[in-house]
Amino acid sequence: MTKPAPVDFADIQGLVRFGYGALTEASFLLLRIRDASAVQLWLASAPVSNAVVMAQAPDTALQVAFTCEGLRALGLKEDVLAGFSAEFYAGMSGDESRSRRLGDVGANSPQYWAWGGQNKNPHLVVMLYAREQLLEGWLHAIRGPHWDDAFDVLDCLPTSNLFGLEHFGFADGISQPTIDWKQQRQVEADELAYGNLVALGEFLLGYSNEYGKYTDRPRVPADSDTTSARPSADDKPGFHDLGLNGTYLVFRQLEQDVRGFWQFMDQQASSDPDVRRELAEAFVGRRQNGQPLVELSEKPIDGVTNDATLNQFTFDSDADGSRCPLGAHIRRANPRTTDLPGAHDNFFSKLQHTLGLGENTFGEDVIASTRFHRLLRRGREYGPPLGVQDALQQTQSGDVGRGIHFISLGANISRQFEFVQSAWMMSSKFAGLTGESDPLLGNREPIPGCPVTSAFSLTKKNAAKRHIAALPQFITVRGGAYFFLPGISALRFLAGVR
Ligand code: HEM
Repeated sequence: MTKPAPVDFADIQGLVRFGYGALTEASFLLLRIRDASAVQLWLASAPVSNAVVMAQAPDTALQVAFTCEGLRALGLKEDVLAGFSAEFYAGMSGDESRSRRLGDVGANSPQYWAWGGQNKNPHLVVMLYAREQLLEGWLHAIRGPHWDDAFDVLDCLPTSNLFGLEHFGFADGISQPTIDWKQQRQVEADELAYGNLVALGEFLLGYSNEYGKYTDRPRVPADSDTTSARPSADDKPGFHDLGLNGTYLVFRQLEQDVRGFWQFMDQQASSDPDVRRELAEAFVGRRQNGQPLVELSEKPIDGVTNDATLNQFTFDSDADGSRCPLGAHIRRANPRTTDLPGAHDNFFSKLQHTLGLGENTFGEDVIASTRFHRLLRRGREYGPPLGVQDALQQTQSGDVGRGIHFISLGANISRQFEFVQSAWMMSSKFAGLTGESDPLLGNREPIPGCPVTSAFSLTKKNAAKRHIAALPQFITVRGGAYFFLPGISALRFLAGVR
């Protein structure tokens, strides 16, 4: 096998490599293209930040991503657009069946969204990041002379700095996959052990993924690419690779009902503050300070580089969910080894699992191996914080919106975000549970074959199973879209499309 070429960080937008945590101010501009030529003039000189590590950390950053409709408005032809993935092409709210699978029904339905969905779909998102006090100036600096002619502003989404917490008061952004930038990972087809090191091709187009294959991506005939900035697509001679060093960006505005959350916990806990906190922690699957509810694993986990004391664990030691409930948010979001209870470390147990024999097969069948479904999260909070004590007061009229601008990156929207959201978060059959969906994200709407999805169950060692019924909806979708975050030379190509 030939050694893969080293990654050109100068051609990758920085968000793939950095969360820009030191740039505590951020704002996301949702734009529609008014004049494509003016957009191209703006794009040709826009100071888009790349993924090179600088000697001195930057004070500001700029990222740009397009929806399919936006690429079309820019002049990309249908045959090139057809090279993008079907779900990007259709859009997040493109059809009812997708909305149903994502849980975007009832109060989450796109018809109620503030942006995204029919008639309110952005063409692009311009993402601005800056150190404290610098955002306003940065916004002014990136506009340049063509901005006003180029865009209509659909919305400007501000963010807030909650110092590493999300609005329910939990440490956020703790567990992230480690990207194999050096492309050293040898992918084993039947690899079952949980590891945190994930193939580069899972997060960036143009590289080998967890199947040892290239994810489909858009290409342009070489003779139409006057910039000649991109090398030929490895697996398609005569074409230039428009996808190389780009990725898909999933954006969902998720509003959190902090009062509703803490008032429900309080009622369930008969107002005992410790019980209330513990119950909320069981919903999330971690302590508020980020500590896992299960014991750390003695065996090091491959690729755990981000805070090992918080991420060095699997659910092997807690197969019955008595420490971390089977349906807790982090367990649904990344079941680690829940799908392989008892770790199939010998040939016969692996074979038994593969053939679907043995105990727990129902639970196993509804969950697939986690390494194909990892998400790189890059979201930001918005809205003012609300502490638990204030949240316990009755709803104040005119309460302002607060929540997460959920952003995740991945080379395959369907296998990563959509799978996690529909098969794990929204599924009422996850891990053998029935009648419940994600305790945080669930829309509590009945689904075919399961009239109730609003429960949450807890199993404590040597205690009766506790079944909490009629959870209210704590999180509501307020907007969303699928974007393509191109590589830098692909952006320059887009600036020249005729
Ligand atoms: C307002 C909405 C949400 C809230 C309040 C929330 C909260 C949290 C918290 C507190 C954690 C644990 C800390 C961490 O590892 O970062 C977490 C982890 C995670 N969440 Fe969410 N989340 C939300 C939405 C989502 C959505 C929509 C998805 C995907 C569809 C998601 C996927 C994940 C993943 C993959 C993890 C890491 C799991 C692990 O590897 O242990 N979250 N979330």
